[in-house]
Amino acid sequence: MSVTIGTPLQASAFKVLLLGSGELGKEVVISLQRLGVEVHAADRYDHAPAMQVAHYAYTLNMADAEELKQLIQQVKPDLIVPEIEAIATQVLVEIEQQNIATVIPSAKAVNLTMNREGIRRLAAEELGLPTSAYRFADSLESFRAACDDIGYPNFVKPVMSSSGKGQSRVKNFDEVDAAWEYAQTGGRVNQGKVIVESQIDFDFEITLLTVRAKNAETGEIETQYCDPIGHRQDSGDYVESWQPQAMTAAALEEAKRIAHKVTTALGGCGIFGVELFVKGDKVWFSEVSPRPHDTGLVTLASQFQSEFELHARAILGLPVNTSRHSVAASAVIYAGVDDTNLSFSGLNLALANPDTDLRLFGKPEGFKRRRMGVATARAETTDQARQLALETASQVSVQQN
Ligand SMILES: Nc1ncnc2c1ncn2[C@@H]1O[C@H](COP(=O)(O)OP(=O)(O)OP(=O)(O)O)[C@@H](O)[C@H]1O
Ligand SMILES: [Mg+2]
Repeated sequence: MSVTIGTPLQASAFKVLLLGSGELGKEVVISLQRLGVEVHAADRYDHAPAMQVAHYAYTLNMADAEELKQLIQQVKPDLIVPEIEAIATQVLVEIEQQNIATVIPSAKAVNLTMNREGIRRLAAEELGLPTSAYRFADSLESFRAACDDIGYPNFVKPVMSSSGKGQSRVKNFDEVDAAWEYAQTGGRVNQGKVIVESQIDFDFEITLLTVRAKNAETGEIETQYCDPIGHRQDSGDYVESWQPQAMTAAALEEAKRIAHKVTTALGGCGIFGVELFVKGDKVWFSEVSPRPHDTGLVTLASQFQSEFELHARAILGLPVNTSRHSVAASAVIYAGVDDTNLSFSGLNLALANPDTDLRLFGKPEGFKRRRMGVATARAETTDQARQLALETASQVSVQQN
């Protein structure tokens, strides 16, 4: 079966409903728009980045089952594309069961990956993939016992959280109670439960962008991989990424084996960001997101089809090309202040080098540590690309009005 795309804003339109309208969604929308798709973008605040390039925008609480159901009934999308985790995923399970729309990549994937417990149990216990040692806890008492069991240092994360919220690295017994308190502030829905993970002593960490897309001839779903992306995290947030990350042939093969297993179990079509820790030839599974990954912004500069184009094509059932044309890096541009209505200057300097590029996301409000843009750079080596990307990002200055 091949997809037929109609005309946007007409009765024949092929409609995509994007749930979450951040900077990653914005690039997905642009890719979909280029293919003639009608895009509806939703988020919890007005003028979110992806809303600015969509045909229609909706502001609502997507974690509220009733509000979400109502929106889906109103839009009647062909595809529902979740871009964030904080949504009422049970609604998506029902929508899929009733064949009302296709959930990308699958309701099961969206449901499992929004909760660290679901995805960890699938990866480690069902699929037998190597992970850090872990325990779950839902009270201070069971948390103390879990920390004792796992040892120190360990990582504590609310099971329903992302981007480092409520996370801490616990170095010894004295820090245990404070880590519990902190975790209770960072959860999303269903507060309380945390995962305690042993610390993996890795050489580096990667995102292996993995695409499940239909083969043009056979119609069968095939798994393809982008080159590994290396990245540096600071307080649970990525600050720079580069592609390719050098690694041994054995480690790359193992990374692909792990990515293949976990994405096959999740099913459907689309791109997945598989996060892995690497030490020599050894690879551990960390987590997976069934959507474009923030560290994959570098693919805007390095690949023929960025992770956003790959996602757009894959979800439409179209063929993809994961190959890379350049060595590149990305560096994040933060607001640096808490304010709305910000301005950006220094762009002429930042873009003077022909191997650099910028994305400014257009977020209506900035926070000190809110990502407002990204710089990308191409070079001969990843070290040079990283340096150039960081330099480019630093040339952009943010002003209050
Ligand atoms: N068990 C571990 N051992 C060593 N480092 C870890 C471990 N768990 C997490 N980290 C470090 O903390 C970072 C964030 O952890 P994780 O990816 O689980 O959280 P997150 O909130 O989902 O972050 P993001 O949303 O940015 O991906 C990892 O990329 C890694 O650098
Ligand atoms: Mg992560």
